[in-house]
Amino acid sequence: MRSQLFVPGDSEKKMSKGLECGADCLFIDLEDSVAAPNKETARRMAREFLAAARNRESRPLLYVRVNALDTGLTDRDLDEIMPARPDGVLLPKSQGGADVQHLAAKLAVREAENDIEDGVTSICCVATETASAVFGLASYRGASRRLSALTWGAEDLSADLGAETNRLEDGTHAPPYQLARTLTLLAAVSAGVQPLDTVYPNFRDEAGFRRECIAARRDGFTGKMAIHPAQVPIINEIFTPPPAEILRAEKIVRAFLDDPNAGVIGLDGEMLDKPHLERAKKLLARVAGAKGRGE
Ligand code: COA
Ligand code: MG
Repeated sequence: MRSQLFVPGDSEKKMSKGLECGADCLFIDLEDSVAAPNKETARRMAREFLAAARNRESRPLLYVRVNALDTGLTDRDLDEIMPARPDGVLLPKSQGGADVQHLAAKLAVREAENDIEDGVTSICCVATETASAVFGLASYRGASRRLSALTWGAEDLSADLGAETNRLEDGTHAPPYQLARTLTLLAAVSAGVQPLDTVYPNFRDEAGFRRECIAARRDGFTGKMAIHPAQVPIINEIFTPPPAEILRAEKIVRAFLDDPNAGVIGLDGEMLDKPHLERAKKLLARVAGAKGRGE
């Protein structure tokens, strides 16, 4: 999935608008964008929305961002939404692999109670929202087969650090957040899951947003979260490899298939060996898995 659009769970309008804007995935939010008195209403609205949206012929993946494990609200969130079978759960303030296992156990119980196939509900974690969470990044590897993606957050991390801002004057992230970004990328690749770049809150600044998407793709992120529908087509465009790149990757894979004993080959005047083949295969896998699932 290239684009994941946040939609507040207490806004019927934004949830249904989200379905139409081309996002590969919706992150239906029960956490920070829903005020405490609205949590119960949002759970019910998210459940009704999920139940209806699931049956559409073509639809994005539907994840729900629950409240963090230490809030005491997560079980109630899951009790309400799991009967409507979300494709996945987004876990905020995750501290590491142990939190994934904790959530996985909660999901397994609800899957059993609701006659849902065991293990089908995926988990994506927001993995850098506190200073201690950053030190847990190495522990995601091998935590659970449910883990589908890791992403990072600069807003909550800057609150935890007591920082004045998380961005420099030119709009790029300050060093502590660049470190969190890089470590999330490495942790996701190490865990064999999708690395997703964080949100760009200034949703009227298209040029800055574009720059951040391009930098994320350059470094290996395979998608980016959005907070506004206008950001979605830009993400989809930038995280879809251009046809020439796809053709080139297919050509590289074919060249190695045609010569299975070769460690190194020459193609169009360029030396290619194992890392080039791996990169080409990764790109093709990304193309195959780019779109959200429509059932
Ligand atoms: N999903 C779906 N629709 C959205 C949307 C979103 N995330 N954000 C805005 N829209 C809709 C608006 O409802 C509006 O619809 P309308 O034209 O039918 O009235 C249209 O897109 C244009 O919105 P705009 O006026 O540009 O923005 P806004 O001031 O209404 O909303 C935000 C700005 C930031 C409040 C809004 O984008 C939002 O709620 N984003 C998600 C916040 C969130 O979930 N945060 C948690 C993760 S960090
Ligand atoms: Mg937050």
